[in-house]
Amino acid sequence: MTTESQVPGADELQVSEAQIAVHWKEEQLYYPPPKFIGQANAADPAIRERFSEDKFPECFKEYADLLTWDQYWHTTLDTSNPPFWRWFVGGKLNASYNCVDRHVRTRPNQAALVFVPEPEDQETVVVTYRELYRRVNETAAMLRDFCGLKAGDRVTLHMPMVPELPVLMLACARLGVIHSQVFAGFSGAACGGRIADSQSRVLITMDGYYRNGDLLDHKVKADEAVERAKQEGQEVDKVLVYRRHSGQYSSKTPMVQGRDVFVDEVMPDYRGKLVDPVSLPAEAPLFIMYSSGTTGRPKGCQHSIGGYLAYVTGTSKYYQDIHPEDTYWCAADIGWITGHSYIVYGPLSLGTTSVVYEGVPTYPDPGRPWRIAERLGVNIFHTAPTTIRMLRKVGPTEPKKYDYHFKHMTTVGEPIEPDVWRWYYEVVGKGEAVIVDTWWQTENGGFLCSTLPGLEPMKPGSAGPGVLGIYPVIYDENGEEVPKGSGRAGNICIRNPWPGIFQTIWGDPDRFVKTYYEKYNKDPKSTDWRDWPYFSNDGATQAPDGYYRILGRVDDVINVAGHRLGTKELESASVLVEEVAEAAAVPVVDELRGRAVEMYISLKPGVTATNVEEKVAKVIETEIGKVARPKNVWIVPDMPKTRSGKIMRRVIAGISNFTDVGDITTLANPEVVEEIRSHVQSVKEARGDVPKTLTEKEAEEIKAFGQVD
Ligand code: WT7
Repeated sequence: MTTESQVPGADELQVSEAQIAVHWKEEQLYYPPPKFIGQANAADPAIRERFSEDKFPECFKEYADLLTWDQYWHTTLDTSNPPFWRWFVGGKLNASYNCVDRHVRTRPNQAALVFVPEPEDQETVVVTYRELYRRVNETAAMLRDFCGLKAGDRVTLHMPMVPELPVLMLACARLGVIHSQVFAGFSGAACGGRIADSQSRVLITMDGYYRNGDLLDHKVKADEAVERAKQEGQEVDKVLVYRRHSGQYSSKTPMVQGRDVFVDEVMPDYRGKLVDPVSLPAEAPLFIMYSSGTTGRPKGCQHSIGGYLAYVTGTSKYYQDIHPEDTYWCAADIGWITGHSYIVYGPLSLGTTSVVYEGVPTYPDPGRPWRIAERLGVNIFHTAPTTIRMLRKVGPTEPKKYDYHFKHMTTVGEPIEPDVWRWYYEVVGKGEAVIVDTWWQTENGGFLCSTLPGLEPMKPGSAGPGVLGIYPVIYDENGEEVPKGSGRAGNICIRNPWPGIFQTIWGDPDRFVKTYYEKYNKDPKSTDWRDWPYFSNDGATQAPDGYYRILGRVDDVINVAGHRLGTKELESASVLVEEVAEAAAVPVVDELRGRAVEMYISLKPGVTATNVEEKVAKVIETEIGKVARPKNVWIVPDMPKTRSGKIMRRVIAGISNFTDVGDITTLANPEVVEEIRSHVQSVKEARGDVPKTLTEKEAEEIKAFGQVD
């Protein structure tokens, strides 16, 4: 905090780094209802002792024992080549067997997947465990015999949210083929880059899918993807095309002779075929998932079969509280890690019913999710703050109209504002459901911080303590530990390895070590895991009760006159203003203070904005401090967002600073960018508030601000 004294009037601000967390008011605790506790998978407090640090790593045997092994392992954790940890060494298993075969015996007629098409006049599709077994086997036979795929090969899937996607993943897993599913909303070029990086020679896609009422042409992206992969040196010799409506082609793009085939024309050759699940070492890769990352080339996060499956099964059981008889709906996309872990692998490994919804939650109206929940009897619901904010914005009282009852709800993906949390709890959950706020990353396989829903109280806006077997620590920039429970901000790290951690970045082990382990490594020669904390690249604070509050990526901090302000705390304060639906904070280069804050806000529909700008500035001042008072507050129709719902702060930061907004082609709503730009910049020009030309370094910072790719 050396710059404080150089700023006029800075003395009165007196917000030192040590006090950052004082910005966050401590929230009231909420306790789980007795009815929930009575049925919870984790209801005995002794579970915490079973996973205490002195029991590490053997404690994870409890998770591994939830799986069926062909051969039991001999070494729980091998640390001989850090940080390339090996879990359950000597063990052999098959993920498809664990998610399918073993349930066919016990509950053949139970629904494994329930597919809800976006158009409401199309039939819901129920896939029982017996039917899943049949489909996975036939698909595996096709992949093996028609495509020539075998264990260790990579295949890229560019599939929308249809039941064929989990079937394909499980069919790959049956053979030991490594799947790399690319989010369907990504462009052909993005898909092509990932094909090349993973060296896939087979691409599997669909002709089209429904989104927001339209049947999108998706096959067109396959041609772009193959072209891009070729430019990057990877030939694709087969493109398998599923048809959204069997026998009827929904794309305008021609099929390429000798390369493209319709799956519904090939599959009949494999009817009734059975494929033995290949018994694979625990450390063989199950899949690659490209992380959205903050900067640079996407990273192919490689996840193992044994460690990953054990970890997602264990956390699904204790944190999602999944029982086989539940109806579980995670409204994420399977194209993200959340969907891999908590739509497909975790829930199916536990033998429950997992709902797959094709479209957008607000189509055709904001009552849709609650109709689905009512109709299917969903009792566990899992979504992200961005969706919760959107549903609150467009349908604040809709949940009341439907007769559904959740016992459990999850939030994931970004910090949730306490105010939004309370709406989720009271209105969506009807005050009956527990909430788990789960903090983790693509790299992590499964949850890192959260609350055990039957045992630990909830605190709005806080993820909670480290989950079972996870021991977090907060370090400052110099590698000193920030005192436990001090509320001071720093970089949250995990001190120990865990079974769900990714094994490496596909094809780039050096980058893996550099990005996640180099910063806080104590001795590069050491084979003691204690010397290799995992650096998450997220900022966090820990309250005296041990709960962690995640502040977002460490590079999402705005440094105003030496005060590090988290974008999330600024945004969280802003949504306390009645009229505000969503807020985004960005830095603007300021000659006096280094950086100043600018807020972008969108309003709840139907409200007339009276003096909202001043209300936002005021609430930030009272909640955080004068230092944080925004230079400008802009009311915008909507925030520029990625297809996964993350606000593209770098785009609005570019607008505020009159710099290049960068690539906006992958946004969900690129059209809003020009609208915001012309409004903001013309007002700024009229006021003579145009920043001086940025230095190269400043421009770089703005361009990378809160970057998601
Ligand atoms: C980043 C990871 C992991 C599933 C979805 C996102 C942020 C994630 C939370 C949470 C606050 C969160 C972090 C993290 N994040 N969950 N509960 N509270 N922040 O996966 O795309 O790899 O993003 O999302 O900044 O690093 P991802």
